[in-house]
Amino acid sequence: MQIENLGVIGAGMMGAEIALIFAMAGKSVLLNDTAQERLDEALNKLSTTLDAGISRNFWTEEDKVVALSNIALTTNLDDFSECHMVIEAVFEDAEVKGKVFKQLDSILKPNCIIASNTSSISITVLSANVSEARQKNFIGLHFFSPVHRMKLVEVINGMDSSSAALEVATQACKDAGKVPIQVKDVVGFAVNRMLFALWNEALRLVEEGACTPEDIDVGCKLGLGHPVGPFELMDLTSNTLNLQVGKILEDAYGDRFHPRPILKQVVAAGRSGRKVGRGWYKYDK
Ligand SMILES: NC(=O)c1ccc[n+]([C@@H]2O[C@H](COP(=O)([O-])OP(=O)(O)OC[C@H]3O[C@@H](n4cnc5c(N)ncnc54)[C@H](O)[C@@H]3O)[C@@H](O)[C@H]2O)c1
Repeated sequence: MQIENLGVIGAGMMGAEIALIFAMAGKSVLLNDTAQERLDEALNKLSTTLDAGISRNFWTEEDKVVALSNIALTTNLDDFSECHMVIEAVFEDAEVKGKVFKQLDSILKPNCIIASNTSSISITVLSANVSEARQKNFIGLHFFSPVHRMKLVEVINGMDSSSAALEVATQACKDAGKVPIQVKDVVGFAVNRMLFALWNEALRLVEEGACTPEDIDVGCKLGLGHPVGPFELMDLTSNTLNLQVGKILEDAYGDRFHPRPILKQVVAAGRSGRKVGRGWYKYDK
């Protein structure tokens, strides 16, 4: 099977851009969210992203026309009945995701692939929300932010994911210009486990007063060759989400992933990051 018709659920930071990269690869994409305003907002953001890319000669005006004409918006999941693959990118909450999968189970064709973009929740656990017959077609596709720039996708096999479903989804990601790596369904997968270990140590250094966030970011960029510092990246992905994921990692691995008190503090203070104009740094809204 080749993926031509795709559905994406959740038109937030990740879902909107996941829709974009597949639309740019010529796939027909249906983008879903709970309210039309969220969808309109997502399309406006994509248009701004495309304009910025065009001004830097990264894309052409024609790329923009093709991309936007390949994306259709819907608030109704019933419209997903003809999709070859559906990618879920709603809130990082097993219950919210579970409700979506249960709904999809009665709508999708039997061979449609269901992929979750979860950062940390077990794919096998999420797949329990669909009928046993569908679990072979249930996988994880973990994209990285900003999706249009970050080439990596972690392709996650749950306990029952079939190699056929993994191969078809891997090819679709390659068609969209991504570089997939295969990771088993362990909590946090591979990249986030490494990332959160680094972040926790960076947060400890700030708690100890050993370094400022600014100096740690400079250290990682100039000493380790990272393109973005840990505090800049935390602000980009959202500290609220980082804390949620940190708690899921702690639940799975114990103390070594215990979320640092200073992270809890910034989240409680509403400093979620770029999205809200304030995180470890201040931003123009
Ligand atoms: N932010 C990151 O850097 C990042 C990276 C990789 C993976 N992820 C994962 O991607 C997922 C989405 O994260 P995000 O940062 O895009 O979040 P976000 O809050 O920006 O977007 C989530 C969207 O889902 C919508 N939504 C919520 N419930 C819904 C439902 N029942 N049906 C349809 N839409 C619904 C919300 O309205 C919102 O638009 C999460 O699972 C997150 O862990 C995030």
